[in-house]
Amino acid sequence: MAIAAADAPLTPTETRVVSTDGLQTFHMVRPQSLTAVRTWIFVLAALVVAMVAVGGATRLTGSGLSITEWRPVTGAIPPLSESAWLAEFEKYRAIPQYELLNRGMSLAEFKVIYAWEWGHRQLGRLLGLAFFIPLVWFWARGAISRRLALTLLAIGALGGLQGAVGWLMVASGLEPGMVAVAPVKLMLHLTLASVIFASLIGVATGLKPAVRNGAPIRRAIIGARVFLGLVFLQIALGGLVAGSKAGLTYNTWPLMDGALIPPASALFVVVPFIENFVDNVTLVQFNHRMLAYGLVAFAVWHAWSLAGTAAFRRARVLAGLTLGQMVLGIVTLLLAVPLWAGLTHQIFAMAVLGMAVVHARRSGEGA
Ligand code: HEM
Repeated sequence: MAIAAADAPLTPTETRVVSTDGLQTFHMVRPQSLTAVRTWIFVLAALVVAMVAVGGATRLTGSGLSITEWRPVTGAIPPLSESAWLAEFEKYRAIPQYELLNRGMSLAEFKVIYAWEWGHRQLGRLLGLAFFIPLVWFWARGAISRRLALTLLAIGALGGLQGAVGWLMVASGLEPGMVAVAPVKLMLHLTLASVIFASLIGVATGLKPAVRNGAPIRRAIIGARVFLGLVFLQIALGGLVAGSKAGLTYNTWPLMDGALIPPASALFVVVPFIENFVDNVTLVQFNHRMLAYGLVAFAVWHAWSLAGTAAFRRARVLAGLTLGQMVLGIVTLLLAVPLWAGLTHQIFAMAVLGMAVVHARRSGEGA
């Protein structure tokens, strides 16, 4: 990657190279520096997955509403004295969830749900630091180009937005009569996390030049992009299943209440019609099931269509991961969402997404 004119002074992370015809001189970021940048971005992506996992555990343990305020900076310090704990507990006892679901909860029990939510937020703070400090360092040393830095800053802005969406989501659960957060907001929070994760994987993958195996194949590029779009949609639908607790009903497979396709009277019972897609657990679960079958069928067909090409191996792995994720989803449903299954299904979704990003990116490069 040439990043500066030949006559500019070298930065600590650059080296001078001469073009093969010997006529031009470029500055290039040293390969070791690029590897360091790439590793850092992959670590950030891994931290996002950790955030998703702890966020999932926070939800599945019913802990998400235990901290009733948004204090991005001062909230880093948890209650340290007995009186500080009692004050926090008092705030929780004032919200509807305590009144309607957890009346009589002890302080010791409260400390457990508080720990999950605090851990999720603290991980967010750590992620912020792990993003900004190395970014400034690499930028100052010339290890990343201006374009890459701006791309990363845009991803960082999404991270800031994600914090705000997280708070809006929690706030929706504190409103009168609410005992959980609004499903649509949970869906948005999970989908935005997925966008951030996918962007990081895409950028990191692009930093290592692909070994080209000929001209890019059109059907590989289009198929990979369509699949990526469908995975995002499926993750959003999964967020709705989780948010509306639709995994606690119809715990049978392949039938739902004795039918492959439930009657329209059950699928569209809610008025207005559009709200069925968010609030009607029957339709919410049905949509997630159907798209899963569609995704697996598409992934298998896509891999098959690439047999004999260099992209085949990647597409085959992707189809395998998608099939595995479908099986995990079925197990999660049949067991009515135990913590381990819900979490594994959620984290595996990130593996499918990550692989889909790599596949789309590499297919575009003709690898
Ligand atoms: C093959 C592609 C699939 C993908 C990419 C996918 C992805 C997801 C995601 C991202 C969530 C949200 C997790 C959370 O926020 O906790 C979710 C939830 C869920 N999915 Fe899937 N899923 C797939 C297939 C299936 C299938 C086939 C079933 C069952 C027939 C299923 C059942 C569930 C259930 C029950 C939940 C709610 C879990 C909870 O409440 O924590 N999924 N899915």
